[in-house]
Amino acid sequence: MIELKWEDIETQIEIDLYEKFKFTGIVDSKKLFEYINRLNGIYRYIQISNNDMDKYLIARNKLMLDRMAFNYEFGYPILSTMLLDKLSTICKNKTVVDVGAGSGWLSHQLKLREVNIIAIDQYTKSNSHFTKNHTDILETNAIDNLKYNYFDIVIMTWPDYNCNFAYQILEQLKSNQILIYMGELEGGCTGDDNFFKLLDKKAIENTELTKQLQEHNLCWPGMRDDWYVSNIK
Ligand SMILES: C[S@@+](CC[C@H](N)C(=O)[O-])C[C@H]1O[C@@H](n2cnc3c(N)ncnc32)[C@H](O)[C@@H]1O
Repeated sequence: MIELKWEDIETQIEIDLYEKFKFTGIVDSKKLFEYINRLNGIYRYIQISNNDMDKYLIARNKLMLDRMAFNYEFGYPILSTMLLDKLSTICKNKTVVDVGAGSGWLSHQLKLREVNIIAIDQYTKSNSHFTKNHTDILETNAIDNLKYNYFDIVIMTWPDYNCNFAYQILEQLKSNQILIYMGELEGGCTGDDNFFKLLDKKAIENTELTKQLQEHNLCWPGMRDDWYVSNIK
């Protein structure tokens, strides 16, 4: 972890980290780690500078703007090459669906790695979360789609916490299907409480695959999102 002083942070903020690191959604991991470490440095500064409101606000705004710019263009999870390689190995020769795919960035990256994946989102044209689609997205209700179609693997990243989307998706899953969930745990900012309760009842965590993905996870400072693989009972 890089320790930063305020002088460093001020310079970083002026340069614009996002631009400096040419952070294009999937970059070589060294660059990505450096970028995230810088942000973590800023975040730590924020935590210890509560009594300096001006600096706190500048640093906090910078952090939020960088994350927002990334979210709008690509999506919520940070994808590294190593993570995508692991994920595509798990998904190889399987039928896969990305439910609530957003910009389709993850699906696009997995397609490049020859994964047989369909991206579904209910709102592709009127989606206020994202500025563009990176791949073909089937514009339909993913819950209904799962009622009539079987996929070996269902990927669900960052389902909203303030609706029952995650719960309803899980309700549709059948024995032997695999759910790959990316988000925070119960009480966090993804997935509703009923989703986590149902997950406890209906699925068993595949600890080996979960570990393989978590090894390569990267979070935005302040976030606790991670990858969890579950086998439906
Ligand atoms: C917070 S965004 C996450 C997007 C993406 N998975 C990511 O991680 O960047 C949640 C997405 O779920 C989609 N969504 C919500 N309800 C849906 C439904 N019933 N069927 C399909 N997509 C849905 C929204 O349109 C939105 O794009």
